[in-house]
Amino acid sequence: MMIKMIHSTWAIITLIILLIAVVNAIIGVTSKKEFTDKSLRISLFALIVTHIQLILGLVVLFTSVSFTFLKENGMGAVMKDSTARLFVVEHPLIMILAIVFLTIGFSKQKKKTTDFTKFKTIAVFYGIALLLVLSRIPWGQWLN
Ligand code: HEM
Repeated sequence: MMIKMIHSTWAIITLIILLIAVVNAIIGVTSKKEFTDKSLRISLFALIVTHIQLILGLVVLFTSVSFTFLKENGMGAVMKDSTARLFVVEHPLIMILAIVFLTIGFSKQKKKTTDFTKFKTIAVFYGIALLLVLSRIPWGQWLN
């Protein structure tokens, strides 16, 4: 399906920009760099790209085979089927949690007053978000 293909391709952009934002923040922390406009834009861009992925994901979910499976067989059946559970429960919930971390991280960063604490906030919150995203990508079926 078209929207699933877009979600699948957008995932590449999401992963790349998240990785760039995390690496940029870690470099900022370790080499005590100035938190420039560029760093702010990278963090904001990562936030926007993942929010778009969230909207795409919601559409994919509600039009997916797994969701039909949920409607026809109920939540109990979904929880017993590891594939359905991944797509209906684990993947959406953990991805949304990751996006919550990104959003909190970005807004906390704005309130920090030093370059070091800005970078540190992004490094921690975006770092956790990246790990959460990596943990629930369906690696087995993606790009296969
Ligand atoms: C940062 C956020 C996200 C990333 C990086 C991501 C990435 C991916 C990837 C790589 C796939 C596999 C696509 C394929 O097999 O070609 C996938 C599938 C899927 N995603 Fe996401 N996703 C994200 C967020 C979400 C959210 C928030 C939802 C739902 C609310 C969602 C719902 C789904 C569903 C239902 C599938 C399975 C499609 C199917 O095989 O029928 N995703 N996602």
